[in-house]
Amino acid sequence: MINNIKGFVEQLNYEAEVFGKDFEYSGKRVFISGMGGSGAVADLLSDWLDGEIIPVKGYKLPAFAENGDLGIFVSYSGNTEETLSVLDKAIRKGLRCICISSGGALEEIARDRGLLFLKVPSGFQPREAYGFLISAVVKALKIVGYLSEDAQREYSSAVGKLSSYLPELSSEDSKTYEVAGKLYRRIPLIYSQFYSVAVRWKNQINENAKNFAHISIFPEHNHNEIEGFEFPDFFKDKAWIIFLRTDFDHGRVKLRMEVVKEILREEVVGISEVWAKGESKLEQILYLIWFGDFVSYWLALMNSTDPYRIDRINSLKERLKIHTSGG
Ligand code: PA5
Repeated sequence: MINNIKGFVEQLNYEAEVFGKDFEYSGKRVFISGMGGSGAVADLLSDWLDGEIIPVKGYKLPAFAENGDLGIFVSYSGNTEETLSVLDKAIRKGLRCICISSGGALEEIARDRGLLFLKVPSGFQPREAYGFLISAVVKALKIVGYLSEDAQREYSSAVGKLSSYLPELSSEDSKTYEVAGKLYRRIPLIYSQFYSVAVRWKNQINENAKNFAHISIFPEHNHNEIEGFEFPDFFKDKAWIIFLRTDFDHGRVKLRMEVVKEILREEVVGISEVWAKGESKLEQILYLIWFGDFVSYWLALMNSTDPYRIDRINSLKERLKIHTSGG
C-alpha cells in the first residue's frame, strides 16, 4: 500500500480510457454520486470548485435534480448499490450521465446504454485508487466543457508541484510519522474547514489503521462540539486534536482555531496542527489529503494491522447481497 500512496501524483496524472459518446454540458449543476473511497472524489471537487458540485451519498437523487442536469457516477468496483440506485433514478429523470469505474455493473450499464464511461485501472482498493478517480472526474468535466481554463491550469500546476513534497511526507522520520505517533492508541479529533480533507483523514484512519476517528468542521464545531468535552471521563485521557489548516481558511476560522486551541488545551491529551503547503487551494487540499494518507499507513503499522484488510465492510456487503428487500 505504501507504494500506492507514494504513487498518488502519478494517479492524478493518469489519463483514463474513454468510451461512449461525448457531449457538451452548458448547465451549472453537477451531481457526483459515490460512496466511501469513491465518494471522496465528490467531496474534493465540491471543496475545490466551490460552485455547484453536489455530492450525493446514499440511495436518493436530490429532488431538485432536473432533466438535463449532469450526473457523474463514481464507483471503483462498479458494484456499489447506492450509486447504482442513484444512476437508475438519474437515467429515469433524464440527467446527462457519466460513469467512472474499474469495471462491474456500472461499466455494463454505461456500455449497454451508450453512456460516457471512463475506465480506471483495476486491482486496487478503492481508497488507494483515489488519484485515478480524481483524474477521471477531472477529465470527464473537461470533456463536457464544464471545467474552466483556469481550473484546468490550477489542476495541472497543483499536481505538478505536489511531487516535490514526496520526500518530506514519505519517510519514517517525517512529520507524517510523528503525527501518527501522537494518534497511536488515541481518539483522533480531526478539525478542518474543508470537509473533503477531514473526512478523507477519518476514512483512511478507519479503514487502513482500523482506528476510530472523529471529524468536526469549522466554524460549525464552535456552536456545539466545543461544549462536549466534560463527559465521558475517560475521554480526556484518550482524545488528541489535530487541526488541518490552509491559507484558504476563512480569516475568522483561522482566529477561531487559535482560540479553540486555548480553550480545549486542558480537555484532551494533546493538540497538533498540520499546515498545508502549496499555492492554490487545490494544491493545499491535496497536500493535506496526501499527508493524511501517510499518517493512516503509519498508524496501521503501529496498530499492527493490515491496511488492506476490510473484513467488516466485506462481511456487510456479503450479508446485504442475501437480502433483496428494502429497495
Ligand atoms: O474504501 C473502501 O473499500 C470503501 O469505502 C468503498 O470505496 C465503498 O464501499 C464503495 O465501494 P466502491 O468504491 O467500489 O464503489
